[in-house]
Amino acid sequence: MASLAFYLSAAVLLAQSSVAFNCSIPPVYVDIHKRVTHFTDNFQYGSFVGVGTPAQNHSLWPSLTQNQTSFGASTYCDGNSTLRDCKESTGGFFASGDSTSFSEDKGYQTLDTASNSTFENSYFGQDTLRLYTHYFETDGAWQTLIDNFTVEVVEEGSTVPGVVGIGSSSTVLNDLSASNQICGKMYSLYIGQGFDRAGGKVNGSNVFGGYDAGRFVDPVHKYNMSAAGTNQLSVRVKDIIISETNKANTNVSLFDAAAFPSMSSRPDAFDAEITTDQYPLSLPYEITQNFISHLDAEEDNTWGDNSLKLKNAFNGSLTIVLDDGFEVTLPSEVLMNASNITPVQSRAKDSKEPFFLSAAFLTQVYLMADFEKQSFFLATAVQKNNMVMPTTFCPGSTPTAYQRPNQGAFVKQGLIGAIVGGILGGIGIGICVYCFVASCRRRVAERRIEKRAEEGRKAAKMAQFEVEEVMEFDPPPKSATPFFWKKR
Ligand SMILES: *[C@@H]1O[C@H](CO)[C@@H](O)[C@H](O)[C@H]1NC(C)=O
Ligand SMILES: *[C@@H]1O[C@H](CO)[C@@H](O)[C@H](O)[C@H]1NC(C)=O
Ligand SMILES: *[C@@H]1O[C@H](CO)[C@@H](O)[C@H](O)[C@H]1NC(C)=O
Ligand SMILES: *[C@@H]1O[C@H](CO)[C@@H](O)[C@H](O)[C@H]1NC(C)=O
Ligand SMILES: *[C@@H]1O[C@H](CO)[C@@H](O)[C@H](O)[C@H]1NC(C)=O
Ligand SMILES: *[C@@H]1O[C@H](CO)[C@@H](O)[C@H](O)[C@H]1NC(C)=O
Ligand SMILES: *[C@@H]1O[C@H](CO)[C@@H](O)[C@H](O)[C@H]1NC(C)=O
Ligand SMILES: *[C@@H]1O[C@H](CO)[C@@H](O)[C@H](O)[C@H]1NC(C)=O
Ligand SMILES: *[C@@H]1O[C@H](CO)[C@@H](O)[C@H](O)[C@H]1NC(C)=O
Ligand SMILES: *[C@@H]1O[C@H](CO)[C@@H](O)[C@H](O)[C@H]1NC(C)=O
Ligand SMILES: *[C@@H]1O[C@H](CO)[C@@H](O)[C@H](O)[C@H]1NC(C)=O
Repeated sequence: MASLAFYLSAAVLLAQSSVAFNCSIPPVYVDIHKRVTHFTDNFQYGSFVGVGTPAQNHSLWPSLTQNQTSFGASTYCDGNSTLRDCKESTGGFFASGDSTSFSEDKGYQTLDTASNSTFENSYFGQDTLRLYTHYFETDGAWQTLIDNFTVEVVEEGSTVPGVVGIGSSSTVLNDLSASNQICGKMYSLYIGQGFDRAGGKVNGSNVFGGYDAGRFVDPVHKYNMSAAGTNQLSVRVKDIIISETNKANTNVSLFDAAAFPSMSSRPDAFDAEITTDQYPLSLPYEITQNFISHLDAEEDNTWGDNSLKLKNAFNGSLTIVLDDGFEVTLPSEVLMNASNITPVQSRAKDSKEPFFLSAAFLTQVYLMADFEKQSFFLATAVQKNNMVMPTTFCPGSTPTAYQRPNQGAFVKQGLIGAIVGGILGGIGIGICVYCFVASCRRRVAERRIEKRAEEGRKAAKMAQFEVEEVMEFDPPPKSATPFFWKKR
């Protein structure tokens, strides 16, 4: 009898696990770049998200700890907010009174309960959230709607109020998943380098329910999320090495007691939280001191984040080694920018703050989080990416990078700036969606194809032409493998 019960419950479990996630649902890709936002006239870097009816478009910064998605109120910069360059930095302003679909929810209890994470003054309400998918500058955008989404409208604070919350109780992930708009609570991030502090030009992306297989290279490294807490994305750092460019034998470990006699012995590996909430890394005090003495750094606060500044230029890189051997190298242009400012924060000797591998670290790393199975993956990010390959991230699976053909086959075929689709099936990688056109937009798109194909004939090889080519994969091809195709 007991064994029958066992088999029955096992069968139920099995049935549950097989129906719980529909891994045929394509992911929702939301790009991160600079754009004009509602009620501002400068360009701000962030995720392309709109709210309300009619749409008020914003650039929201992704947070890996905040659970609510929030917008700056139109009065955010008028009162007591202390955000630097406030009017140019909020990610847009939301005038909830201008939205016909907004209704305030006075009884709503925020999910952001961590002591000092909440904004000083905000209110909640339900409205329509619009996630825009916009692959390339020259293409149009289309939207994924979340109706009756709870938005936080921030009236006062000291930090950027426009935030997409991807904390462990993320309302965006919960709502998208509950309405079967994504396969599960799965999320991937490349933060990019297009924001002022990073000084770079590379744009980033969010993928809800998936990952961008073109954005990283294998191998991927798997980590368990830590138990409950505000930040579940924590890794162990066992070494940090500074190397001078093009000089042999210049590697110096900041953990090396022989190189840094102020330490009596090699320090222990330390746990560091992955965060987007700040740019510079925050390392243990003695490691920070070694960094200062090795590179002759001094305190500085140009960016308001206590990043250390070098007295003399240094051409070299900093490699962070995690305990599983994954090495992340911050290249010379990240280790020291044109003004000699580094991505390492000063740290007080008695500070009890967590250690952070922050946005500077994420400029080099692709993050893929599986909130269903409590694990996450890191891989080396591809910086200059010509292909966008949104791929469903099935809960419990391991993401696999797109294998680039060698000899620049893509370049030869002119497949630059392509959104690549097709089924990556048969090899257990999950499904790469046929993106670019939702079926309801198909007819519009078909007309566009014709028009663009015509332009394409005139102007040699246009990137857009290649994008349209990919639409032959909607519906996906019958023969799944090999995953490569030829132009017809
Ligand atoms: C899974 O999702 C696909 C794509 O959205 C849909 O066509 C299919 O009906 C779904 N299957 C189930 C069992 O819900
Ligand atoms: C990044 O996005 C901006 C729009 O803000 C665009 O002008 C630029 O070409 C993009 N850069 C890359 C490398 O795609
Ligand atoms: C700013 O803060 C002060 C003191 O807390 C308060 O009296 C005042 O009303 C606030 N001003 C605004 C515009 O919120
Ligand atoms: C987000 O929710 C998780 C789980 O409920 C909680 O541990 C965390 O503190 C919340 N985040 C913030 C910023 O409060
Ligand atoms: C949280 O609050 C404590 C105490 O007020 C403060 O020392 C700390 O800097 C705050 N942490 C963050 C991340 O703001
Ligand atoms: C918001 O962005 C969408 C998608 O690009 C666009 O269709 C819409 O016109 C924008 N709204 C405003 C007010 O700019
Ligand atoms: C909208 O969401 C709120 C809060 O989650 C809920 O109380 C309300 O019933 C929802 N309304 C609809 C029409 O779904
Ligand atoms: C370096 O930081 C300074 C701030 O002093 C900024 O003005 C400059 O644009 C940055 N340069 C680069 C290349 O990131
Ligand atoms: C991660 O969690 C799984 C299941 O709980 C466990 O078997 C595994 O040992 C953990 N891995 C690490 C590196 O802690
Ligand atoms: C020095 O560091 C670089 C970059 O981390 C690495 O490629 C090289 O193998 C290291 N050399 C030695 C001798 O450890
Ligand atoms: C660093 O050194 C490399 C190789 O010598 C050189 O190509 C690069 O321009 C240097 N960078 C700076 C900022 O001097």
